[in-house]
Amino acid sequence: MQGLDGKVAVVTGGSRGIGFSIARGLIDRGVLVVITGTNEATVSRAARDLGPSAAALRADVRRYPEVEQVMTTAVGRFGGLDIVVNNAGIGAFMPVADMSLEVWQQVIDTNLTGVFHCCKAALPHLRARGGGWIINISSLSGTNPFAEGAAYCASKAALNAFSESLMHEVRHDGIRVSTVLPGSVRTGFMSRSKDAAHTSSPTEASGVGSKDAWKLAPEDVAGVVLDLLSHPSRCLPSRVEIRPAQPPRKG
Ligand SMILES: NC(=O)c1ccc[n+]([C@@H]2O[C@H](COP(=O)([O-])OP(=O)(O)OC[C@H]3O[C@@H](n4cnc5c(N)ncnc54)[C@H](OP(=O)(O)O)[C@@H]3O)[C@@H](O)[C@H]2O)c1
Repeated sequence: MQGLDGKVAVVTGGSRGIGFSIARGLIDRGVLVVITGTNEATVSRAARDLGPSAAALRADVRRYPEVEQVMTTAVGRFGGLDIVVNNAGIGAFMPVADMSLEVWQQVIDTNLTGVFHCCKAALPHLRARGGGWIINISSLSGTNPFAEGAAYCASKAALNAFSESLMHEVRHDGIRVSTVLPGSVRTGFMSRSKDAAHTSSPTEASGVGSKDAWKLAPEDVAGVVLDLLSHPSRCLPSRVEIRPAQPPRKG
């Protein structure tokens, strides 16, 4: 998708962290962006920070009618839909024996079913434009599972499979599907996930300390997304892994 000026994007979970950086990067290139989140105040404040090319919608990706509303609002307000970045996600890190049924369901519903909801709701609008791009923010946790990450790792592994399957399904319609698999990124994600409580911190940097300096910055992941979108229509980079260059040595 060369020449992003005037294109329309939805970025789920755009109120902070990686999603906010992706939204900012898109807007810097002339894209009109709808950002979503479950916390009305946080998502509205983020849209104000992003300026007049951004619109905020409170919407929970776990609820299909809310997701449908996001896509139709984007089309109604900006005239169409070209790009969907499925970024909204949560973590919950604990032994399986200690994980409640609710926490398991919350992670799978957000990280996997939420992406299905957004793709299903967006596809008719992307087809109406003659094509577009879906970019799913997965995680290296999906390919490198670790102890106490069962729900999260499983949700991202399943997301990788979902994305690849969808990619084969829609590419002949001019709709490209890419999956980005970041390693550790400097957001408040891990501290928010620690107690598996889905709290909405108003500050993007919340939970980020100097001990996290080795991690990727949210802008690094945004850079990958913008890079993907710069590829000519004959190219489909379907999966990109990005990891910190110098993590702490183990052992
Ligand atoms: N940080 C990392 O180390 C890392 C590494 C690899 C992959 N990732 C992935 O990158 C994505 C973004 O992570 P992040 O670090 O930027 O996390 P974050 O700072 O916690 O931001 C998460 C965003 O998702 C939104 N969100 C959460 N649940 C939602 C729901 N049910 N419906 C709609 N929006 C929802 C949040 O808004 P509300 O709170 O208002 O709902 C927020 O805007 C996630 O998919 C994560 O799995 C992160």
